[in-house]
Parts: sequence; C-alpha cells; structure tokens
Amino acid sequence: MTFKQKYGNTALVAGASEGMGAAYAHTLAARGLDLVLIARRKEPLEARARLITELYGVNVLPVVCDLTTPDATQQIIRAIGDRSIDFMVYNAALSYIGPYLATSLRTHTDIAQVNMLTPFALLHYFGGKMVERGRGGVVLMSSIAGFQGSGYLATYAATKAFNRVLAEGLWYEWKPKGVDVIACCAGATSTPNYLNTKPGKASILEPKPQLPEQVVEECLRKIGTTPSFISGTGNKLVSFLMQHVFPRKKAVMIMGDGMRKMYNI
Ligand SMILES: NC(=O)c1ccc[n+]([C@@H]2O[C@H](COP(=O)([O-])OP(=O)(O)OC[C@H]3O[C@@H](n4cnc5c(N)ncnc54)[C@H](OP(=O)(O)O)[C@@H]3O)[C@@H](O)[C@H]2O)c1
Repeated sequence: MTFKQKYGNTALVAGASEGMGAAYAHTLAARGLDLVLIARRKEPLEARARLITELYGVNVLPVVCDLTTPDATQQIIRAIGDRSIDFMVYNAALSYIGPYLATSLRTHTDIAQVNMLTPFALLHYFGGKMVERGRGGVVLMSSIAGFQGSGYLATYAATKAFNRVLAEGLWYEWKPKGVDVIACCAGATSTPNYLNTKPGKASILEPKPQLPEQVVEECLRKIGTTPSFISGTGNKLVSFLMQHVFPRKKAVMIMGDGMRKMYNI
C-alpha cells in the first residue's frame, strides 16, 4: 500500500514555507498528496506553493495565518472550506534563547500558544475528523531539548516535552481507530531558523546538524511504527547518554552549560 493509499489525499503542514516544514511539504507532495500550507509571510509561502505545484503536479493551497493568534484554528478551518485533511504535520514553533526573566511574560505566552495551544486545537478538530473517518496521520515536531530541563531554553524545551508526551498518548488512543500519531524529536537541524540563531559549538561530542530532508524522511518512514523517535544516529546516541547513563542532575547541567557556551550567555 502506498503512503497516499494508507493516509489519504490531502496533507496540512503548519509552518511550511521553509526549513523542515518545506521539506515535509516536498516529501508529502512527492508521495502524491495535495497540500494546505501555512505560514505568516505571504511571499515565501506562495513561492513555495508554486514551486511544489510545478515540481509534483499536486494542488497546493497556501494559507497565510499566524499560529500565535488564539483563533488560528478557526481561520484555517474557514480558509480550507470543505477539503478534508488526511495527514497533518505541526512543524511551526517559537523559541526564545536567554535567561527566563530577560524577556516578557508575553513572549513565554506566545511560545505556549504556538507550540502547545494551537496544535492542541488543530489536533482536536482535524484529528477528531480523522478518527471519525477511521484513517489519518499526525506528526508533532518535538526536540531532544525536551528530554530534560534546558536552561536558557526553558520554556521552549518544556513545550517540546509537552508535544512528545501528547503525541505518545494520542498514538495509544488513536492507533486502534486507524490514525497514526508520532512525535519527531529532532536535534540540531540546518534550517534558516536554526542557522539564524548563530549557534557556537557546545562540545566536541555534539552531533553535526542534520539536513531537514533527513529528519523528514526518517519521520515518514517511522510513522505508524512507534509513538515517538529521535532523528539521526548522533542524536540517538547523545539522548541515550543523557537519559540512561548520566544522572538527571548531570544531564540538566550539561544542557544548561551547553546553551551558555553555544550562545555566549
Ligand atoms: N531546526 C532545529 O535545529 C530544530 C531542532 C529540534 C527541533 N526542531 C523543531 O522542528 C520544527 C521546525 O523548526 P525550525 O525552527 O527549524 O523551523 P522551520 O522548519 O524552518 O519552519 C519555520 C516555518 O514555520 C513558519 N512559522 C513560524 N512561526 C509561525 C507562526 N507563528 N505562524 C505560522 N507559521 C509560522 C515559518 O514561516 P513564517 O516565518 O513566514 O511564518 C516557516 O515556514 C519546530 O517544531 C522545532 O521545535 C527544530
């Protein structure tokens, strides 16, 4: 059975104009799925939609929407009309690097909205419809930063733990109903967003950043087989050490010290 036969005709990618989101869009289009692509900036989003249509001959609907707004889900539902969404990737995320108290509560609240509350609402609506139809797939992007407290990235890392735990719970609930859910726990990946943070080197053991396409291919191979996974061999190894070899206190120290070094804090 092909990916499209298994999951259906149309995928929604939230946060889709560049980086990992764009890689999901291309990879799903290459599997023959029509797309609904979401991002804030109209120009790059529309350019991405045109390119994908040219390359793969699938229908692409670009929807300009800021996932920070509390009614983002309602805006998306209105924009897509009667299309049914068979596969959903929630890729967009907001992060803040620095001391927790050095930015406003508003920034932390926006991170919670984009990274937790909007995916919550989209999952409730589109996941609910998938369960009703008895088939579908959902990817929630998480991060290896969410496996332990991560100083100077505390709120973002906590939201990524939330994504993973939510996806794992729904994997259990929805698998018997024909809907696959997976949390993709990525490590450093060379997306424009990541490169813009200008990361330094934290340690010689730090894995080389992956390419977005590598993360996405592994995720689409794994969905249906596991509730969550860590992308890439280097990240799997580092996560094994952090979770199973070092005591938790040591893992939290390594993470915070690494962030301080990487970002000169
Ligand atoms: N890159 C890494 O190193 C890394 C590591 C671990 C986990 N992750 C996870 O992987 C995912 C992708 O991260 P990334 O930073 O690399 O991003 P990315 O895949 O480059 O995606 C960013 C995309 O999301 C859109 N977007 C961002 N904020 C949005 C908002 N508020 N509303 C609507 N669209 C929005 C952007 O377009 P606009 O700017 O036009 O809105 C862009 O198309 C995230 O969930 C992240 O937590 C990334």
